[in-house]
Amino acid sequence: MAMLDNNAPVGVFDSGVGGLTVAREIMRQIPEERIVYFGDTARVPYGSKSKDTVIRYSRQIIRFLRTEHVKAIVIACNTASAHALETVQKESDIPIIGVINAGARTAVRATRNGKIGVIGTEGTVGSGIYTEVMKKLRQDIEVTGKSCPLFVPLVEEGLLHDSVTDEIASRYLSVLKSKYIDTLVLGCTHYPLLRSTIGRLMGEDVTLVNPAYETALELKELLKAQGLNREADAPLTGEKYQFFVSDLAEKFTDFATSILPSEVKETRKINIEEY
Ligand code: DGL
Repeated sequence: MAMLDNNAPVGVFDSGVGGLTVAREIMRQIPEERIVYFGDTARVPYGSKSKDTVIRYSRQIIRFLRTEHVKAIVIACNTASAHALETVQKESDIPIIGVINAGARTAVRATRNGKIGVIGTEGTVGSGIYTEVMKKLRQDIEVTGKSCPLFVPLVEEGLLHDSVTDEIASRYLSVLKSKYIDTLVLGCTHYPLLRSTIGRLMGEDVTLVNPAYETALELKELLKAQGLNREADAPLTGEKYQFFVSDLAEKFTDFATSILPSEVKETRKINIEEY
């Protein structure tokens, strides 16, 4: 077992910028915690890659985060949580959590008619993991998955409120509407940024679940339970939040500054293939 320091940062990783929606929730809910964020901008997207590849990438990122002496890791990416969480958890002596259990739990709690929709990448939806976890929580639940591969590039292009996004979203979501779901899991890091479009198209009777919110809560409880939570007045040496990517550091800095509560001053580029 590694000797853990509660003043150490939490590692958060994603295939790129999307996981910042999870980092943002952690910053809001546990502002005393330090974060080392890694975005795999050289190898994004993960959503269309195989399980083996996503496991290999996740292992490399975890090795990198360990060099930053993180005390716990959050896999902010739904696709990496779907494909790699179980494997990397078994190999790790520090706690690692993903976003799927949290999202599944919230949805099962929220549904009134037992019909839940899940949208995500091809990898996440194809893995069937959300359905599996939800059915363990409540057997009679009916889950409809729908992959929405064009949502990630639309968000990355900044088309959050655009007629093109509306048109594509209404095509993707029609199958979920026809199943009369009353709860929809935004099972991909980028989708909370399309929340208003998705919410409008699904109608106000459908509850939208953002797994990021519940994941931050789960992290908070986990750190506390393991005595790993950082004291708010603990001395801080260096930056509270550090950002690393595998490519295009400046582009990342701009995007991060646009969605995080405070300005990101620096993003460092590393060669992830070395880990
Ligand atoms: N971060 C990914 C996820 O949450 C979306 C982007 C990608 O395909 O890599 O599934």
